[in-house]
Amino acid sequence: MADKINAILQNENYKIYLAKNEEKEKTREFCHHDLQHFLDVARIAYIINLEKSINIHKDTIYATALLHDIGRWMQYEKGIPHDEASAELAADILKACGFNENEIREIIAAILMHRKAPADEKSLGYLIYRSDKLSRGCFNCKAILDCNWSEEKKNHNIKY
Ligand SMILES: [Fe+2]
Ligand SMILES: [Fe+2]
Repeated sequence: MADKINAILQNENYKIYLAKNEEKEKTREFCHHDLQHFLDVARIAYIINLEKSINIHKDTIYATALLHDIGRWMQYEKGIPHDEASAELAADILKACGFNENEIREIIAAILMHRKAPADEKSLGYLIYRSDKLSRGCFNCKAILDCNWSEEKKNHNIKY
């Protein structure tokens, strides 16, 4: 079976967008939207998927996590909300990497929901939303006092 996740990693546009995110966040004191963040989200989401027996396919989870913030640079550059920007950029990459139409539809929907706390706690959108929040190490962040996350959203301790 083709390795669709590493196809994303090797995709030329994916690499360009990762570099653009990095460039835009060079001096950012708050959380970054880089490959480490994407992997953290993927792994946390897969752990929750196992622990709660949600049974979403591993490729689907990893692909969504790898792509959920890939358009962050467009928010800095053009003011486009990054869930919308990422969804748009992700569609072409997913197609190029061999995902089928149903998979692409599910992944794009989850990317579009990742900032909005979807109601269905067993949905891919909720899984990514929750993992996205859990991935942030607020307890170890120098910018915690200036961050605009609400106190209840911040991770003040290790959740495990
Ligand atoms: Fe995001
Ligand atoms: Fe994120």
